[in-house]
Amino acid sequence: MTAIKKIGVYTSGGDAPGMNAAIRAVVRTGIYMGKEMVGIMQGYQGMMEKNFIDMGARSVCNIIQKGGTVLKTARCMEFRTPEGRKLAYENLKEKGIDALVAIGGDGTFTGAELLSKEYNIPVIGIPGTIDNDLSGTDYTIGYDTANNTVIEAIDKIRDTAASHDRLFFVEVMGRDSGCIALQAGIAGGAEAVLLPEKDTGIDDLIGKLEQGVDCNKTSSIVIIAEGDKNGGAYNVAKHVKEKLGDSFDIKVTILGHLQRGGSPTSFDRVLASRMGYAAVNALLVGETRKMTGLKGNEIVLTNLEIAINHSEFKLEEDLLEMSHVLTI
Ligand code: F6P
Repeated sequence: MTAIKKIGVYTSGGDAPGMNAAIRAVVRTGIYMGKEMVGIMQGYQGMMEKNFIDMGARSVCNIIQKGGTVLKTARCMEFRTPEGRKLAYENLKEKGIDALVAIGGDGTFTGAELLSKEYNIPVIGIPGTIDNDLSGTDYTIGYDTANNTVIEAIDKIRDTAASHDRLFFVEVMGRDSGCIALQAGIAGGAEAVLLPEKDTGIDDLIGKLEQGVDCNKTSSIVIIAEGDKNGGAYNVAKHVKEKLGDSFDIKVTILGHLQRGGSPTSFDRVLASRMGYAAVNALLVGETRKMTGLKGNEIVLTNLEIAINHSEFKLEEDLLEMSHVLTI
């Protein structure tokens, strides 16, 4: 059995709905297993500033339904330096924290992997990001909620697009990941989807839009991921306007950070609970530098370095192909 006595848990990088459900599961599982639990505020920032709070089963009451993260989060540049990580480790040691659960995305796991390697502290990651861009899991915590938020917005945009016979360019989050855009494109019945992983030329897009007009479509929605190579929805709208003049009545909507907030869906709460429970149990049987994931309906562990390796991540291209067919 393991000698772990005190487990630190933190959230880092962009917040995602369901992070609180994961914190709750980690804290309660740890306490159930007889461990002391410490919340590290603002991720790596808090590690360097000794911003620690002791947590009990009651300190995670009434948070399962809340968006955001009660432990707060930050993107911390100083932790990327060896000096920053040394300070963080010394602070963890002083507090008696001898294992970590890191909740976040690829940046969070890159930091966790380095800290664990350099100072031999066990760490298990839980994927919490709306981007769904990690290998080793079919779903990250927050992705389902963000998709539902986006589709609610697109349905509303469709009402006004149809009433005015307009062409809407809707920008969704995803600097490096087209997962939300692809999902939104299919569920929202969009005319086209522009993704960071694919080059879609403006001429191809225009061809598609004109084809729609030929098929008697009077309004259209195009979904654009923020990381699309054409430079986001405003740029795409500008280029289309330059080529087509006033033949389309064009509007742009940027959904922005509203996609990151809100109460997590039931799916995200259950996923977060399963992963939090699994993460603590993994630590206690001696696992380290792994991420919990959901494959099919099984909770599995994947090495952190594989989880964050972007070349391992595959966008579901067949869905993109399907969405072309369904918009004829
Ligand atoms: O990684 C999650 C995410 O929401 C991305 O989709 C987006 O590109 C980025 O974070 C935005 O980051 P910030 O909130 O720091 O602007």
